[in-house]
Amino acid sequence: MAVLEIRDLHVTVETDAGTTPILNGVTLTVRTGETHAIMGPNGSGKSTLAYTIAGHPKYTVTSGSITLDGEDVLAMSVDERARAGLFLAMQYPVEIPGVTVTNFLRTAKTAIDGEAPAIRTWTKDVKGAMKNLRMDPKFAQRNVNEGFSGGEKKRHEILQLELLRPAIAVLDETDSGLDVDALKIVSEGVNRAKGETNLGVLLITHYTRILRYITPDYVHVMVKGRIAEEGGPELAERLEDEGYDRYLDADSTEPADAVEA
Ligand SMILES: Nc1ncnc2c1ncn2[C@@H]1O[C@H](COP(=O)(O)OP(=O)(O)OP(=O)(O)O)[C@@H](O)[C@H]1O
Ligand SMILES: [Mg+2]
Repeated sequence: MAVLEIRDLHVTVETDAGTTPILNGVTLTVRTGETHAIMGPNGSGKSTLAYTIAGHPKYTVTSGSITLDGEDVLAMSVDERARAGLFLAMQYPVEIPGVTVTNFLRTAKTAIDGEAPAIRTWTKDVKGAMKNLRMDPKFAQRNVNEGFSGGEKKRHEILQLELLRPAIAVLDETDSGLDVDALKIVSEGVNRAKGETNLGVLLITHYTRILRYITPDYVHVMVKGRIAEEGGPELAERLEDEGYDRYLDADSTEPADAVEA
């Protein structure tokens, strides 16, 4: 049983305009076996939260805490976080020229487990996971994300998720750019991981369609670096119908009639 606890998290980033606050007090708890969806308008800080959990050096935590089973995540290096059981599937996965998918996966697995996986079972596991995700075996010999289509990159993220078996996974717009079949295949991958390892999931998305395959226990709405509302799956449906105006108007400095004009 793993618990990821985010408490009153404030995060800034350095921009040309100086130090800019992005997260303004985010509080969220994700436990093993739970699925949390985070929705919210563009630029509200969802990816910033994902990167901060993963330890991206661009983001500075100015106050608040992140703990995993009581251990201070913010004191851990990026690889210590991965070894502790945290996983991030990025919104825009990066290319790693000169490193094949096979070598990348094996190196990551070795780093996370602290020992190299046994060759025979590992090869079988990789093949099986690729087959499940309907990935052409040829991808194993290609360089990570180099020339991958948007959908192929997302499948590769889920391939990592299934093989690395983290405790808690943050999936940042893993559904974006997927065709209907790929969306189903990728969702099945996440659900397999949930079933096999009781994975806890923090799923960042703009669309309810993925939530029909991966049912969230909780839905959180992020607006301007804060959680503005929380609810169950029905909240996602409401957001799809109504959009985010309600939240944006609520703390707008403009008079209501000006907004409506
Ligand atoms: N490295 C950075 N440098 C400058 N600004 C940044 C940086 N990272 C984030 N920001 C700013 O922080 C805000 C939140 O960005 P973030 O990517 O977290 O939003 P998001 O909620 O993930 O949006 P989207 O739905 O479009 O993916 C944006 O205004 C963005 O421009
Ligand atoms: Mg984002």
